[in-house]
Amino acid sequence: SLPRAVKIVEVGPRDGLQNEKQFVSTDVKIALVDRLAAAGFQNVEAASFVSPKWVPQMADGAEVMAGIARRPGTIYSVLTPNMKGFEAALAARADEIVIFGAASEAFSQKNINCSIAESIARFEPVARAAKENGIRVRGSISCSLGCPYQGDVPVTSVLDVVQRMAALGCDEIDIADTIGVGTPKRTREVLASVTKVFPRERLSGHFHDTYGQALANIYAALLEGIEIFHASVAGLGGCPYAKGATGNVATEDVLYLMNGLGVETGVDLDQVVAIGDFISNAIGRTNVSRAGRALLAK
Ligand code: HMG
Ligand code: MG
Repeated sequence: SLPRAVKIVEVGPRDGLQNEKQFVSTDVKIALVDRLAAAGFQNVEAASFVSPKWVPQMADGAEVMAGIARRPGTIYSVLTPNMKGFEAALAARADEIVIFGAASEAFSQKNINCSIAESIARFEPVARAAKENGIRVRGSISCSLGCPYQGDVPVTSVLDVVQRMAALGCDEIDIADTIGVGTPKRTREVLASVTKVFPRERLSGHFHDTYGQALANIYAALLEGIEIFHASVAGLGGCPYAKGATGNVATEDVLYLMNGLGVETGVDLDQVVAIGDFISNAIGRTNVSRAGRALLAK
């Protein structure tokens, strides 16, 4: 049976925008985050405190966090690869930090310039400092269903990183299909293994839609009892370190699916459709949400 309710983490302001070549103004980013929070998302990934040389689009994270209108109860998350990022996140009053690793050595090197083992050593003080300051810690594991450099990724590699992230005290762990190569069969296999070593209700599915499999993978994950999913409004995005990768699954499409299944999200689809239209126009991008486009055409 399916879960009664799910949590949708809206990652558009971060994962969706990080790869945009043209700088998106801080005001647009702030408006996007505020409108998403108002639409009912419990968790909005708002910024990244990474090196501005690596990801220039996220350079204004502090200004974004300072400019948003905090909704009581909404969790605003930010990415923090190291202590420098953590200090910035603390100053910005982030509710949750995201340490991000990978199940593939090659991807770890390309994305964060260190091995998996080095990344865990780097995350350890970050996670500890977050706990000391009462900040939630989420661990994200890229390439859990495949890697652009290595190809197939064994389940054992995913499990290894899940266990290391768990040992760091992660409140939540994201199983990420960075390049959208996963299919429902693989998704179920990986999640069936991961749920044996980490509590199911604290695992999330982060699916990119490069091969058009993301919604099917979400349904597969629901059948494994997963209750947290990441999505990006209007399907914004792409990964700077994964050539050809498209954005996350579009939030509007996920909401349409959940509404049809009778699974509660607490998020208003019509508002999200309007936000998808707003941000697509603001950055001059085609809205790639199928449900969003259909509902806008009505
Ligand atoms: P590095 O070059 O090895 O680090 O990069 P470093 O410590 O040697 O520092 C180099 C320079 O960066 C220094 O500046 C530091 O001060 C600065 P310089 O002295 O040259 O002027 N620096 C920073 N500046 C601001 N904030 C910081 C910070 N850290 C260092 N936190 C590093 C290592 C991790 C920093 C770098 O590789 C990096 O920033 N990578 C960013 C990767 C990234 O953001 N990727 C996209 C997000 S992950 C993702 O999208 C996947 C996900 O969606 C899940 C999925 O789909 O798979 C989460
Ligand atoms: Mg991603």
